[in-house]
Amino acid sequence: MANDWWKNAVIYQIYPRSFRDSNGDGIGDLQGIISRLDYLQTLGVDAIWLSPVYESPNVDYGYDVSDHRAISKDYGTMTDMEELIFEANRYGIKVILDIVYNHTSDQHRWFLEARRSKKSRYRDYYHWRPGTSDGPPTDWVSAYNTSAWELDEQTGEYYLHMNSRRQIDLNWENPDVIREVEDMMTYWVRKGVSGFRIDQLGHINKKKSLPSYEEFANKHADPHFKIIKDEGAHPYIRQLNEAIFSKYGMMTVGESTSSTPEEALLYTDPDRKEVNMIFSSEHLQAKEKEKKQTDASDVIKLKKVMEKWQKTLENKGWNTLFWCNHDEPRIVSRYGNDREYRAESAKMLAATLHMMKGTPYIYQGEELGMTNPVFDSIDEFRDSKSLTEFQQRYFEGNEEKSKILEGLNETTRDNARTPMQWSDAENGGFTDGTPWIKLNGNYSHVNAEQAVMDPDSVFWFYQKLIQIRKTHPIVTEGTFDLLEREHPSLFVYTRRFENKLLLVISQFGEGEAIFDLRQQNLSIKSGELLLANYPADQTLPEESIRLRPYETRIYLCGQ
Ligand code: NOJ
Repeated sequence: MANDWWKNAVIYQIYPRSFRDSNGDGIGDLQGIISRLDYLQTLGVDAIWLSPVYESPNVDYGYDVSDHRAISKDYGTMTDMEELIFEANRYGIKVILDIVYNHTSDQHRWFLEARRSKKSRYRDYYHWRPGTSDGPPTDWVSAYNTSAWELDEQTGEYYLHMNSRRQIDLNWENPDVIREVEDMMTYWVRKGVSGFRIDQLGHINKKKSLPSYEEFANKHADPHFKIIKDEGAHPYIRQLNEAIFSKYGMMTVGESTSSTPEEALLYTDPDRKEVNMIFSSEHLQAKEKEKKQTDASDVIKLKKVMEKWQKTLENKGWNTLFWCNHDEPRIVSRYGNDREYRAESAKMLAATLHMMKGTPYIYQGEELGMTNPVFDSIDEFRDSKSLTEFQQRYFEGNEEKSKILEGLNETTRDNARTPMQWSDAENGGFTDGTPWIKLNGNYSHVNAEQAVMDPDSVFWFYQKLIQIRKTHPIVTEGTFDLLEREHPSLFVYTRRFENKLLLVISQFGEGEAIFDLRQQNLSIKSGELLLANYPADQTLPEESIRLRPYETRIYLCGQ
């Protein structure tokens, strides 16, 4: 097996809690995943990435790990996990595990020991500091918009948590921490996994001197990210690469949402021996999450961001291609139209992304064109971040409830976490029990059973995109060029490889638009239409192409 199998692969992300419940407790589980491997094989994906299934008090649903080598009872047993890895491999599907190494749960044995006494051998696994006359050691703010320091009453010192109060940052300057992480990764390598998705990849190095935001603010536009995202992480990642990733041929993808393409190169340039690729979400920020309508400036910004990433990583490093994950609202509700043009816009978005250079990731339900649900009251939310935000804005900020809910409906991570819609049966066929989070009511007509039966569904469109990638090396190898950079709604690009040209034309919007081939000096006469999301006219246009609302077309031609 070539070590860079992931360059030509498509990876499917599973959020196990919401995928498929096999035992009726309302929570998705490992046996549920095993029961749907045939569905994933039909779709054609090469690997699944599982969001964390380790033991966890679920403050952040698994991203607060209390034992890295134990499976949470919510999801099953270690035997189920071994069975999943074995069965998935039998279906030709590799398993990628989520590694959370920046922090542990406050219920992790190391932290329970560490907080017992200043003399504990685990004390130095975390960051402890005495307070100052103002309280916390520094003015650092957590991702939950609170102080990043929490006072531990028993020992009188503060501990650092850049996420929730119950996710405590590990101290990577302590060689024992690195050794523990290496051992834990080796444990999973031995279980037969093929790679790792690494949570908060570059946040592990904390500045020793603990500079204040104020000190930093003079020098950097965003002191928060400057502090957590530190170049000092690179040597640690290289050390892991040598000890684990390269040694065992693991595929690696790191989460690094705020990275620039230049920073991405530092992580992914193969000569630097760190990770294979990273997830940055710059393209998702082209339009503000709260904003409902996508306008021309958003489309132009999106194109330019995509172009910058494609170009910077064209010859060195490697891109991830993704629209969705468990932290982001559904893409069809964001850049598409999740009502009148749900299927058209879901397909258009998929084609636009999948024909670029990089490894595509599909997040569960994206292949069905799943949409954001409507959350009517705060009781329907499960995401700790949204619940904290509500508390802060309602009780401390005295904002109106309806206004906060309106905002949260657009931004909440729960948008991605409603259960997978398998059929039009009760609870969308997700569970026989009471689902841990509400379903999106549209499961009556947006569901896997119907999609698999309908050759024109979003599901089969994704399947075809995967097949195109597998059949035509140009998708993996070709150079990328953006056309129509300033056009308000057309997203057009070419890929070129050997003597072939791939042309992707997408209309981001409800109006019509004309793409002028002659003006671009392009001829597709000798080509073929590989895929389109409207009934296709097989005669190849010579002069121009009129695109209907959210239309997309992929042409392959000789050059
Ligand atoms: C990124 C994960 O994707 C997110 O779900 C989690 O809350 C944070 N990292 C903290 O682990």
